[in-house]
Amino acid sequence: MKILAIETSCDDTCIAIIEAQKNKELDFNILSEIVSSQIEIHKKWGGIWPTLAKRAHQKNLIPVLQTVIRKAKGIKKVSLKKIKKTQKQVLKKILIKEPELLNNILEFVEKSKKPKVDAIAITIGPGLEPCLWVGINFARALSFLWNVPLIPVNHIEAHIYVNLLNNKKFRFPAIALIVSGGHTQLIYIKKQKDYKIIGETRDDAAGECLDKIARILGLGYPGGPIIAKKAEKLKKKTIGISLPRPMIYSKDYDFSFSGLKTAVLYDFKKRSSSFQKNKNYIREMCFEAQQAIIDVLIKKTIKAAKDFRVKSIILGGGVSANKELQNQLSKKVREQLQDCALYIPPVRYCTDNAVMTAIAAYFHRKEKKSWQKIKAIANLKLD
Ligand code: KG4
Ligand code: ZN
Repeated sequence: MKILAIETSCDDTCIAIIEAQKNKELDFNILSEIVSSQIEIHKKWGGIWPTLAKRAHQKNLIPVLQTVIRKAKGIKKVSLKKIKKTQKQVLKKILIKEPELLNNILEFVEKSKKPKVDAIAITIGPGLEPCLWVGINFARALSFLWNVPLIPVNHIEAHIYVNLLNNKKFRFPAIALIVSGGHTQLIYIKKQKDYKIIGETRDDAAGECLDKIARILGLGYPGGPIIAKKAEKLKKKTIGISLPRPMIYSKDYDFSFSGLKTAVLYDFKKRSSSFQKNKNYIREMCFEAQQAIIDVLIKKTIKAAKDFRVKSIILGGGVSANKELQNQLSKKVREQLQDCALYIPPVRYCTDNAVMTAIAAYFHRKEKKSWQKIKAIANLKLD
């Protein structure tokens, strides 16, 4: 089965084509994939502006798709007949809110070849509503013009399923920790597709907290990888910065990170302007902030894994690209949960991508839908 996937839930324009082969084990071949980052656009604001992100998706989707199709190996590509007037009218309706896409899609569809895929996977939520819609309307237009069904995908489920690359299989029950710029959730997975969100952040997501701290410290965007780099450079703690570990001893599986960001802000404000730029101060602050987040994430994940007696822990989302989080969690699992498998995606599939969307769609391959039936659900829940 060949799947073309589109993911625009946040600030990356992602398209991929994968092939799922069911031999003895499930095997996914990635035929082509692109993640077109908008970091340059959002960098100056220190965070994502949904309207700017939507506009960038409109601009990027066709060139990204063109390149993905051109690069895809091992796939048939067919030319299409000229688009009829009646089809153009339907298309106009589908893309009424995406004028830039509408202008370019007719030319694209007539000039480019259609890849022979069995379905188009599309992220319908959770995510930024304007961003979700632009991807969805593009997918609906392609579905209509190419006559290929759509498979709606939950973005969080995609972050979980990407762990099944390279012939892997989950052992259930499992706990998934999904940590990104938009989400921090602990999910109990009893069996395939049987989810229960057991804990989540009450305010900021972990990645959002890192992004805001980086902005306070004047380090740029996205915060997570920059803070990780600065933290790595710390040789010894000399200033004695000590930040809170919010909710670390609470009996539930919830998180809260906005207080941590405020604690950083207070500390930063009380320093002199020259000290605020001091290399050692920045490094120690980054180290301490990152460690505070890691401590809470690990404590709650291990607690959930023990309480629910799971066989696997699954990581996903942009923050799971953090090497310290990966290493410290691996160590804790080895020490305290010897019979538990730990799944961590390859770094490039921790952050948003369309390969994960395609894999998740494969597990919902029987739930194909016509383009009229698909809409964005910004707060889509997994359970
Ligand atoms: O999953 P993702 O690409 O997009 C969302 O769905 O939000 O996650 C982006 C988030 C950003 O907040 C970014 O700062 C964080 O993931 N991030 C990291 C790392 N790489 C990205 N956080 C910590 N360490 C990293 N290496
Ligand atoms: Zn994500």
